[in-house]
Amino acid sequence: MMDIKTLFKITYGMYVVSSKKSDKYNGQIANTAMQVTAEPPKVLICINKENLTHHYIQESKVFTVSILEQNTPMKFIGHFGFKSGREFDKFKDMDYKIGTTGAPVVTRNALGYLECEVLLSMDAGTHTTFIGEIKDAQTLKDGEPLTYAYYHQIKKGKSPKTAPTYIKDEKK
Ligand SMILES: Cc1cc2nc3c(=O)[nH]c(=O)nc-3n(C[C@H](O)[C@H](O)[C@H](O)COP(=O)(O)O)c2cc1C
Repeated sequence: MMDIKTLFKITYGMYVVSSKKSDKYNGQIANTAMQVTAEPPKVLICINKENLTHHYIQESKVFTVSILEQNTPMKFIGHFGFKSGREFDKFKDMDYKIGTTGAPVVTRNALGYLECEVLLSMDAGTHTTFIGEIKDAQTLKDGEPLTYAYYHQIKKGKSPKTAPTYIKDEKK
């Protein structure tokens, strides 16, 4: 029998992936973000097809990745990771700026950010993998990045069904 817990040994960071649709902004928590090439620099993200952020990225072909710091409050993760922008405006009273691609960049609790243009979209079933070319990147402050393991083990955080790394309770 396949030992699904083996997947727990893969390491990740924690990010806010944001995008836009005309003058509307949205963003979501994602642990699936990684650099794929250096020249030119590219990253991939893996986004659930049901998420509003997915719809915005498909429409605008741009996204940003804010790299979260270790002491990011759980409330902030709940705001972006357990609620949909279909229910309320996640950018109201948020700290953000509009970057070079026109997409919003969340600056609250962020050590830095990447601004990307979508080069490639791959259908991965429940999710789409977007590969983006990095058009701009900035460091905002020094500090420890928040890892997925720290979020689960120290902060006792959970992942919703829409996360690619979600594992049903009975399999744990
Ligand atoms: C720790 C954590 C990791 C997550 N990772 C991802 C991810 O990599 N990809 C994804 O599509 N959703 C991920 N999610 C779920 C989305 O953040 C969540 O479905 C969000 O409510 C979508 O919001 P939206 O509909 O406004 O886009 C994660 C959530 C948490 C809490």
